Amino acid sequence: MSKDRTTVEDRLAAEGGTPVRTAPLPGTSDISGRRIDEQEIAAVTAVLRSGRLNSTVGTETRAFEADFGALYGVDHVVASSSGTSALHLAVAAVDPSPGDEIILTGLSDAGSMLPILAQNAVPVFADLDPATGLLDVGSVAEKITDRTKAVLVVHLFGAAAPVEELRSLCDDKGILLIEDCAQAYLTTTPSGRLAGTVGHLGCFSLQQSKHITAGDGGLTITNDPDLGRRARLFMDKAWPRDTDERTHLFLGLNYRMTELQAAVARVQLTKLQGVVDDRRRNANRFAETVNSLPGLSTVPTEGTSWWLFPIFLDPATAGGTAEDYARLMRAEGIGAGPGYIGQPLYLNPVLTQARTYGDSGFPIADRASEYAPGLCPVTEDLISGGKMMVLQWNENYTEADVDDHIAVLTKVHRHLVGRG
Ligand SMILES: Cc1ncc(COP(=O)(O)O)c(C=O)c1O
Repeated sequence: MSKDRTTVEDRLAAEGGTPVRTAPLPGTSDISGRRIDEQEIAAVTAVLRSGRLNSTVGTETRAFEADFGALYGVDHVVASSSGTSALHLAVAAVDPSPGDEIILTGLSDAGSMLPILAQNAVPVFADLDPATGLLDVGSVAEKITDRTKAVLVVHLFGAAAPVEELRSLCDDKGILLIEDCAQAYLTTTPSGRLAGTVGHLGCFSLQQSKHITAGDGGLTITNDPDLGRRARLFMDKAWPRDTDERTHLFLGLNYRMTELQAAVARVQLTKLQGVVDDRRRNANRFAETVNSLPGLSTVPTEGTSWWLFPIFLDPATAGGTAEDYARLMRAEGIGAGPGYIGQPLYLNPVLTQARTYGDSGFPIADRASEYAPGLCPVTEDLISGGKMMVLQWNENYTEADVDDHIAVLTKVHRHLVGRG
């Protein structure tokens, strides 16, 4: 449609038209987009009344671990204070020597990377599949050296990363696979396995914005008894409380989950399937629209649990970049942002300026120059090259909320393509 034929009613909100939507959408920052009710209140109250607020004297945290283990069919589950700590437990269980390398994505929360540095290992970045934003197996293979100890793969936005292929690659090379499932509760892989159970270790977050929350919190899962034991010890000062000895078997920290967190998390876990089902039902409908619009696409709907909703763009066909789309969609009342994070993880000062331990720069002092623009071109295209935008997604969206998403995206697409 040419600009001349655009009716007044159809005008973009950013250009003086009427926004499709003015009411706020449910969101994870407050109760509108959280399923927290009297059950959580009762569970927390019971812990407070018991006077047992610490997991070494209470029962909630161990019960939460058992509930999660039953849901995921895994033998070892260790609860901790955050998703970052859950990943730190996993890296500590892998036990790299200083200077060993761990391969990961540059498109994630910093919590995926920081535990690697905290264990004195070197983050090595592999590039991504431009259609999904997930790790590219070929790029990972190219980055493996004789110092590589593990691959840390993120199931970004709740879509399944190619973990079966990565597990075979890791097994061939004799290295370990850590799955970061902070955004991917109940995500399933193409072979129908739960994300988090294909690699050697899986990690989850209970931070405010995740599918389920206890404010903060984390889980590390594994079927390997040695990795499970090391993760558990690292979470609690490497103090073997199952013996009577007061000793510290190696360097560990205090990353214990509190009983208050666990009480909330246990109730939240009973709601998880409903949360994921509702996110999926609505996302599948929106995905049909996204995939039908020339120049736009999203991740495969099968198995995805939709933490956020990514849209990948071919700007030439879509008539605009992620920045253009996000700006116009926000004016129409739908929160959208380009790129997800402002810059790849490897361009943060912690790496580019080796801001680690005092003025040593350890363990990346002699490698900081590797962390520079151009390191992972696809990652950079998605973050700042206009080729990916991300929409909030929520279990409490109504059919009408999804209709508004469809109306806004279709309207913005029609205008931008019409101008091309
Ligand atoms: C993929 C990913 N990894 C790790 C983290 C870190 O989790 P947390 O914020 O609970 O420490 C997050 C979330 O913030 C995340 O989204």
